[in-house]
Amino acid sequence: MSYPLTRMRRMRRDDFSRRLMRETRLHADDLILPVFIHDGPGCVDVPSMPGVQRQDIDALLRTAEQAVALGVPALVLFPVVGAGAKSLDAAEAWNPDGLAQRAIAALKSRFPELGVITDVALDPYTTHGQDGLVDEDGYVVNDATVEALVRQSLSHVEAGADIVSPSDMMDGRIGAIRAALEHHGHVNARILAYSAKYASSFYGPFRDAVGSAGNLGKGNKYTYQMDPANSDEALREVDLDLSEGADMVMVKPGLPYLDIVRRVKDHFGVPTFVYQVSGEYAMLKAAAQNGWLDERACALEALVSIRRAGADAILTYFALDAARWLREAG
Ligand code: PBG
Repeated sequence: MSYPLTRMRRMRRDDFSRRLMRETRLHADDLILPVFIHDGPGCVDVPSMPGVQRQDIDALLRTAEQAVALGVPALVLFPVVGAGAKSLDAAEAWNPDGLAQRAIAALKSRFPELGVITDVALDPYTTHGQDGLVDEDGYVVNDATVEALVRQSLSHVEAGADIVSPSDMMDGRIGAIRAALEHHGHVNARILAYSAKYASSFYGPFRDAVGSAGNLGKGNKYTYQMDPANSDEALREVDLDLSEGADMVMVKPGLPYLDIVRRVKDHFGVPTFVYQVSGEYAMLKAAAQNGWLDERACALEALVSIRRAGADAILTYFALDAARWLREAG
């Protein structure tokens, strides 16, 4: 009688040996929670992202308290401002008394140990919903936008942000922001560069959440975000951002781009973060609400897969739930 020379199933037989050979672990330390904030009052549900709300600053502080209690190291803020605060020059983005700046200050004074990350891009503040300033043809102009992003970054850091995270995909913005931070003495402000940010349709629910979808209308971001078909280009983007002074790089979205995550991590060996975006969250939630998928099992599987592909940390709307689930599982 013949028998297998190697029995791979031996190690899978028991929980103890499965645990011993487990290569990738997911921990609360690996998670970053994105939070939508508004002037309020109170909280408003985001219909396309069940369980996610636009929070006023009081609610944000309660969320931050949970993050601290669950061991989630950092939050990233996404402000939602009213039509009155939007303009062609996006000047609200660097208003020292703006919503983002007030939220940063409130968080740092209550929870100094919690990392505060801010998104640097103009889309919450432009009347057209683009991430930058546009010319008469609606084309997003690079260098003038970079100047605006520098002002926005400085105002975030001056309000107390630990990490600024440019998500705009303009050329040269990391170098310009780094130079300005150094020049103003903010030598420890960290930059998390959205380096390989794709022009993805998985951002749909996010654009509902921040209210930029209506403004963007039929517009798209193809002239600055990356073509989903490209991979070598992601390495060039990461290389540039690192040479310009990024401390961490990001690949976004997550699950459909795990090949990019692996290439970036192998090639550069630098802190590589992944954004599990709104559409990835919405898919899992919708299927779970229909009883088609087990939310907890599938969300944890997706997160561990992102880590296995090479991510050091993951921005995820599941951050608090996942930290809770991991704690319950011991
Ligand atoms: C905007 C920004 C977007 C996201 C993060 N920052 C949307 C976009 O580029 O249109 C998407 C996040 C998500 O979908 O969860 N600068």
